[in-house]
Amino acid sequence: MSRITHSTPSRSDDSLRLDAVSRVYGTGEGSVTALNNVSLSLPAGTFVAVMGPSGSGKSTLLQCAAGLDRPSSGRVFVDGQEMAKGSEAKLTRFRRKRIGFIFQHFNLLPMLTVEQNVTLPLRLSGRKPDRRRAHAVLDRVGLGGRLGHLPSELSGGQQQRVAIARALLTEPRVVFADEPTGALDTRSARDVLALLQECVRVHGQSVVMVTHDPVAASYADSVLFLADGELVGRMERPTAEAVAERMTHLGDEVARRRVTAGA
Ligand SMILES: Nc1ncnc2c1ncn2[C@@H]1O[C@H](COP(=O)(O)OP(=O)(O)OP(=O)(O)O)[C@@H](O)[C@H]1O
Ligand SMILES: [Mg+2]
Repeated sequence: MSRITHSTPSRSDDSLRLDAVSRVYGTGEGSVTALNNVSLSLPAGTFVAVMGPSGSGKSTLLQCAAGLDRPSSGRVFVDGQEMAKGSEAKLTRFRRKRIGFIFQHFNLLPMLTVEQNVTLPLRLSGRKPDRRRAHAVLDRVGLGGRLGHLPSELSGGQQQRVAIARALLTEPRVVFADEPTGALDTRSARDVLALLQECVRVHGQSVVMVTHDPVAASYADSVLFLADGELVGRMERPTAEAVAERMTHLGDEVARRRVTAGA
């Protein structure tokens, strides 16, 4: 009996794969290599934190992986599908279908209510906003009673939970978050991190989160360390102490690498 083979370019159980992704800003003398040949793959249902010194390329990595920016070279696969090349409209469609993004400063639209903010991505992609689902997602983040409120009537932590609800409504396979707790107090940060964990544990989504905070990183299943645009380490089952320790040494390692490279 013949086997059915699928010539998929990526393992289907990877929710995210980067193949030799580089991002160079500018050209010639003043060009900056923000990402240098980064390859990684994440199985579905994993929570990964990305850490590294300021300017090490964390945001660039997230933006390239999430289709908010295009790599200068290399390939990105989300849920086994290669990130759309070609027109901006095609890339936007790809992103809306598969990816959620959470920003440090929430990026809610100030004139829209909580409910309208959450259903906006559906409306933008021409789908009918399913209000029942929107309410269910807002319930899940503990804001079922705030549907008609404006962002300015909410605390920072509540606004970030609205942003999470917005990112979850389209049921993306991968949720990217760039310092989602950076602007929050400890208690609100914990709520946000618990929600991100729930995405992974309960709903099987993958989360990729940039953070400077070893405690936040300890909520993840593993931590990737970036330095000078390169992946320089990985830690499984991180504890806050182990991450803090690794971060301290990362500075020394970066200095050593620069000396060796003659920079
Ligand atoms: N639009 C741009 N044009 C030119 N250089 C850029 C641009 N965006 C980022 N860079 C450079 O790329 C490098 C990586 O930047 P990136 O924002 O990814 O760092 P980061 O690790 O997120 O830093 P931080 O922790 O401060 O947020 C830096 O040297 C930065 O100056
Ligand atoms: Mg950044």
